[in-house]
Amino acid sequence: MSVLLVSGTDTGVGKTWVSCGVLRTARAAGLRVAARKPAETGCDPDASGNLVGSDAVALHAAAGGEEPVDAVCPIRLPDPLAPAFAARRAGVTIDVRDVVASCSARAREVDLLLVEGAGGLLVPLVDRYAFADLARELEARLLLVVGARLGAINHAMLSLEVAAARDIPVVGSIVNHFSTTVDLATETLAASLRELTDVPLLAEIGHGVDPASVLRPETIRSLTG
Ligand SMILES: Nc1ncnc2c1ncn2[C@@H]1O[C@H](COP(=O)(O)OP(=O)(O)O)[C@@H](O)[C@H]1O
Ligand SMILES: [Mg+2]
Repeated sequence: MSVLLVSGTDTGVGKTWVSCGVLRTARAAGLRVAARKPAETGCDPDASGNLVGSDAVALHAAAGGEEPVDAVCPIRLPDPLAPAFAARRAGVTIDVRDVVASCSARAREVDLLLVEGAGGLLVPLVDRYAFADLARELEARLLLVVGARLGAINHAMLSLEVAAARDIPVVGSIVNHFSTTVDLATETLAASLRELTDVPLLAEIGHGVDPASVLRPETIRSLTG
């Protein structure tokens, strides 16, 4: 069983972008994959009034569309907040045991279960239970998406410290140029991270670049443990 938690230095830094590339590359390499987004917030209603999670839809397609979208993401919430708070405002109870059971059961059926978090590692899923706690419980390894912007070094190092403090193995980080902004900070980020940490920098994804065109097969194999 191989579970990969994709977390990020922040929200909106490219976790879904990278996750979809990882899933497609892994499928192209012949691996059986599945995806989970335990809870998605900031969801808009479709024409029938059902909340749609855009991450869930993208992950579902990238994973091959075998399961219903509801299996990929059973909890969709309207408010753009951390899941614990969005759920409370919507009167929804998130049961961590259901999340863990769904992820564990699916992980046993595939070579790689990719779980996309919400925001960063310490974002609460329920009350004081954060995605870092979920990673522990699933015995997941961490893939950290570092969004290229000034300030990312601090967020990356904080995330890696949290992972180390909780014994969450880190497979590596990916620097993602999610924004069109190019400045000294974005240009030097990858080199700075290499200098500051021994965590492998698996790839640097340029703006507009499909991660599937950058990720190497051996990198994907390293993700499956
Ligand atoms: N390398 C990239 N090139 C172009 N657009 C990107 C890239 N990475 C992310 N984006 C875009 O930036 C936005 C945020 O990315 P997303 O993957 O949704 O972030 P997260 O999942 O971390 O919230 C999306 O509109 C996405 O399409
Ligand atoms: Mg996302």
